[in-house]
Amino acid sequence: MAFKNRDLLSIRDFSKAEILHIMDVASEMDRSLKAKDRKYSRALEGSVLASLFFEPSTRTRLSFEAAMNYLGGRVIGFSEPSHTSIVKGESFEDTIRVVDGYCDIFVMRHPQNFSAMRAAELAVKPVVNGGDGTNEHPTQTLFDLYTIMKNFRSMENLKVGFLGDLKYGRTVHSLSFALALFHPVFYFISPKSLALPAQYMDGLVKAGVECHEEEDLMKVGDRLDILYVTRIQKERFINPKDYQAVKGVYQIDRSFLSHAKDSLRIMHPLPRVDEINPQLDRAPQSIYFQQAHNALPVRMAVLALILGAVE
Ligand code: CP
Repeated sequence: MAFKNRDLLSIRDFSKAEILHIMDVASEMDRSLKAKDRKYSRALEGSVLASLFFEPSTRTRLSFEAAMNYLGGRVIGFSEPSHTSIVKGESFEDTIRVVDGYCDIFVMRHPQNFSAMRAAELAVKPVVNGGDGTNEHPTQTLFDLYTIMKNFRSMENLKVGFLGDLKYGRTVHSLSFALALFHPVFYFISPKSLALPAQYMDGLVKAGVECHEEEDLMKVGDRLDILYVTRIQKERFINPKDYQAVKGVYQIDRSFLSHAKDSLRIMHPLPRVDEINPQLDRAPQSIYFQQAHNALPVRMAVLALILGAVE
């Protein structure tokens, strides 16, 4: 397995064995963080992460930056492209080429699909995709998997419902392909206008995954081991009327639990708006804040593996 200097652009570039190895390294980072033994606190000393966020973020940016800090590295970058020379007309390409000379690794979020791949073509240093448009969010997937592994012990043979915006939801696109390696059954629950695009559905079916599509959560809720809820992403709609037609279409509250297995776990990549009532936050089924916190050890593992601090 070779992780050193590797780009992390799509979850589909990683084998099951590689994903499981990242989980093992993340477990070790997690153990070290909880033990406060500082075993890795100088692992990336002298290394610099360029954190380039062309689109808003809380979790991805701050957990990557925290991960680099916990590993003893330094961070440069921006969270607001309007504070860069892009406003003077500098191109994306020139920005990447220039920053390539200032860092050892990039994490980048950008509103355009395949922008991380474009950056990786231009940069000598490895690029980690922190979310590219509606395409993919592979490191979100890695800590989604880590959270599943911690809660279910195994990622095999789970019945997973994906709820909400499956058309524009990059977290669903990446996670469904990764979980496809672990013999799942999928229930894609959305309004017709936000259904999983054919390119993803075809790929999953070709990979042998049993996939079902449904509009009504109540029809399949009792079968699920995991309900992966997503936000209807207002910012992705070109026509505001199309957003208004689906706004608030799924709003889960405590009453849903009486339709579900006791062992159900509810996940969400966050941020949420109105799709999970806060009254559910303290339910044992709700693991979305634990999921968000797992970003730290998993992103530490990603940085340490790519920069060659661990194997
Ligand atoms: N889940 C996620 O990517 O959150 P942010 O947009 O806040 O980074």
